[in-house]
Formats: sequence, C-alpha cells, structure tokens
Amino acid sequence: MQKVSLFPTSELSENEVRLVEIDGYPPIAIYNLAGDFFATDDTCTHGNASMSEGDIDGDEIYCPFHMGAFDIRTGEATVPPCATPLKTYQTEVVDQMVSILLEKA
Ligand code: FES
Repeated sequence: MQKVSLFPTSELSENEVRLVEIDGYPPIAIYNLAGDFFATDDTCTHGNASMSEGDIDGDEIYCPFHMGAFDIRTGEATVPPCATPLKTYQTEVVDQMVSILLEKA
C-alpha cells in the first residue's frame, strides 16, 4: 500500500465531495460525512458520470445522470439503476491532513 497526501481537512466542508486525480489510478471522489472522510471511485458503475458532481443525502451519493445512488461508506449500490458497487478506498487523517491508502499501481 502507498499513502498519498491529498489536502487539509479544512478544504472540504462537511457533507461535500470533491474529485482527486492521482497518477496511475482512476479518478477518486473524497467525501466528508460529518467530519469523517471516505473515498470511492469517482466514475459511476452505471455510466460515465462523475460522482463528485452528484449530491450527498445522508450517507448516500446520488449520481447526477440517472439519480441512482451508492452508500458512501461501503460503496454498495442502494438506488437503481445502480447495481454494481463503487470501489472504496481507505482514508486517514493525521495532523488535519487527509490521505488515501492505495494499492501500488
Ligand atoms: S450513470 Fe450513474 S446512475 Fe446512470
């Protein structure tokens, strides 16, 4: 695993999502859920939509294309037409810096 530092916690407000791009990996969406940070693949498993352009409702992210949804904590598809889970990644916050743990590319 490799740890990649992303941004200070202050750069992502609660219940917001942002896109990060890391060389050698697919686009990744980072979420702040009530102060806890989560990460999933950014590209919807139903089509070519960016989850970071979707809307967070509770623990779910709604896709901007067809309004399917996923559980942000587990990646599980919760609202059709989404059926295949989003890949999730482990995050870490140390000294107010958000990092992601990735398998080596
Ligand atoms: S592309 Fe995301 S629900 Fe269809």
